[in-house]
Amino acid sequence: MSKKLSGVWITGGSSGIGKAAAKEFARTGSQVFVSARRVRELEKLNEELEKEKLSAVVFPCNVASSVNVDQTVKKIIALNTVDCLINNAGITSFKAAEDNSVQEINDIINTNLLGSIYTIRYILPHFKKQGKGTIINILSSAAKKIFTNSSVYTASKLGLLGYSNVLREEVRKYNIRIINILPGATETPMWPSDVRKSSSDRMMTGEEVARLLVWVYLQEGNMVPEEITIKPVEGDL
Ligand SMILES: NC(=O)c1ccc[n+]([C@@H]2O[C@H](COP(=O)([O-])OP(=O)(O)OC[C@H]3O[C@@H](n4cnc5c(N)ncnc54)[C@H](OP(=O)(O)O)[C@@H]3O)[C@@H](O)[C@H]2O)c1
Repeated sequence: MSKKLSGVWITGGSSGIGKAAAKEFARTGSQVFVSARRVRELEKLNEELEKEKLSAVVFPCNVASSVNVDQTVKKIIALNTVDCLINNAGITSFKAAEDNSVQEINDIINTNLLGSIYTIRYILPHFKKQGKGTIINILSSAAKKIFTNSSVYTASKLGLLGYSNVLREEVRKYNIRIINILPGATETPMWPSDVRKSSSDRMMTGEEVARLLVWVYLQEGNMVPEEITIKPVEGDL
């Protein structure tokens, strides 16, 4: 099967980078599976895709629930082969360390770190069985550079960076590629609206990040970009 016709699963596809990626992958002819918690937003994605005569298969899935992730993988695998998982679902808090409630701490770690570990845990047996697969993790430039008011977020992204670096060595022999993308500021609903308003011209767009994800996925030879940092041309905010 041509790579272009395989399935791609994008988590957190109801908004921002994930939604832009869902559209960009759909344009390649891939079958796109998109999950997130807000079903209405996923329906809106399909309404927008319909205007281009495209569509995505959407699933409600809270990645912080391992049971939910397991069920979603079963549903996706029943429909088609999948050879790419994009771990994109993520949240942050923009708060000093001690200002985060325990709930906020749990939510960030459970979504960004455990959520991605769960999706990998359940998709990996399928990638091994089919002898190929690509896992793209959307990390953050915060995994390499220190930004205040992002301690829990940074812990979640650095945790996933460490996990993925070990995983990559374990799965090379199965023809499974582990790719970490570390974006800088991107104009999405993750940012408070005043920052989006004042600094949007200093940020990348979700569409720009999405185009990189498609390019990375479509590389077919004996080359894998294992880690890519991308930033706005003028640098960090
Ligand atoms: N924007 C930036 O500047 C930037 C920079 C570096 C990295 N990133 C990373 O890029 C990724 C996408 O963020 P974004 O900027 O596009 O923000 P966004 O527009 O807020 O999108 C976040 C997505 O994650 C989903 N999500 C959140 N919690 C979830 C959960 N428990 N289960 C399933 N889905 C969940 C949301 O959908 P639902 O609410 O519908 O579930 C939404 O689709 C994140 O991992 C973020 O850390 C962003």
